[in-house]
Amino acid sequence: MTKIFFAPMAGVGDSAFRTVCMRHGADGVTSEMISAKATVFGDKKTLELASRTNEETPFALQIFGSEPEIMAKGAKILAEKARPDSIDINMGCPVNKIVKNGEGSALMKRPELVYEIVARVTEAVYPLPVTVKIRSGIDENSINAVEVALMAEKGGASMLTVHGRTRSQLYAPPVNLDIIREVKRAVSCPVVGNGDIVSGETALKMLKETGCDHLMIGRGALGRPWIFNEIKAELFGTEKPSIPTGEELFEEILTHLDLAISLKGERQAIMESRAQIAWYVKGTKGAAKIRQRINSASSREQVVEILKEI
Ligand SMILES: Cc1cc2nc3c(=O)[nH]c(=O)nc-3n(C[C@H](O)[C@H](O)[C@H](O)COP(=O)(O)O)c2cc1C
Repeated sequence: MTKIFFAPMAGVGDSAFRTVCMRHGADGVTSEMISAKATVFGDKKTLELASRTNEETPFALQIFGSEPEIMAKGAKILAEKARPDSIDINMGCPVNKIVKNGEGSALMKRPELVYEIVARVTEAVYPLPVTVKIRSGIDENSINAVEVALMAEKGGASMLTVHGRTRSQLYAPPVNLDIIREVKRAVSCPVVGNGDIVSGETALKMLKETGCDHLMIGRGALGRPWIFNEIKAELFGTEKPSIPTGEELFEEILTHLDLAISLKGERQAIMESRAQIAWYVKGTKGAAKIRQRINSASSREQVVEILKEI
């Protein structure tokens, strides 16, 4: 059965948001990317990124890095501390800061190293499954997802997620569905199709055109975590979720905020929830005003007041 996962999203997909996605039908979540090196050095903030709620099951913990030895060590520490259901390796991050260290999508330039990293991590965390998330390639002249996917599979990857864009493309359209189909044809492990899934229609297109086994949604879930049940209803005929507006939307936002407060404390949760709230209210009447006022709110009480007024 096709599963719909929530994508790893650094700075956005924290434990509270991931939990909300699970409540709305996600079939699994992945942590924000976590530095293997910082983990090995025992960085406290890094380890905090690995925490999860019980509702986040199955929970994949994503690591990034470039040195097989350190990746393996970091993965083992995280596997023991956080008890994830799988370890995912980031080979898609396009951000300069990461790529200049040879990490994230830069790994796609080095298929031999991809093999080495996956093999070492797989060995280190056995019997936990290890999965890999890649892009279509570095740029339009080096679309090598098939080669990288085969090396990852040879190293022991039990599932591959393909975001159908190059590193140079960052998040610009279009998503290359052909390359996802080619990866699916080339490997024997399950393939997760990712990129621009925002509706039943785009989900179906991804499934039909690529033959992928599962789907992953990132930005489509921002302010719309019910997208998982929405798409399931369209694909499998399950019950359509009601799309919250007015009072119901207020309750949704508050539930999310309270969860964040319980996990991070009020101050940090309010700061980090500003963007989340802006996504929830996007498109509703007075959204710009709400955004502006929420940005200066510093307590739960103030947020509630602003939302109630509107
Ligand atoms: C703000 C943001 C943070 C992201 N962080 C990560 C990350 O930590 N690890 C990762 O593998 N991909 C990360 N991604 C990429 C997403 O997981 C996903 O592959 C990409 O957004 C395409 O899917 P979408 O069109 O459904 O958003 C991030 C994307 C965004 C927009």
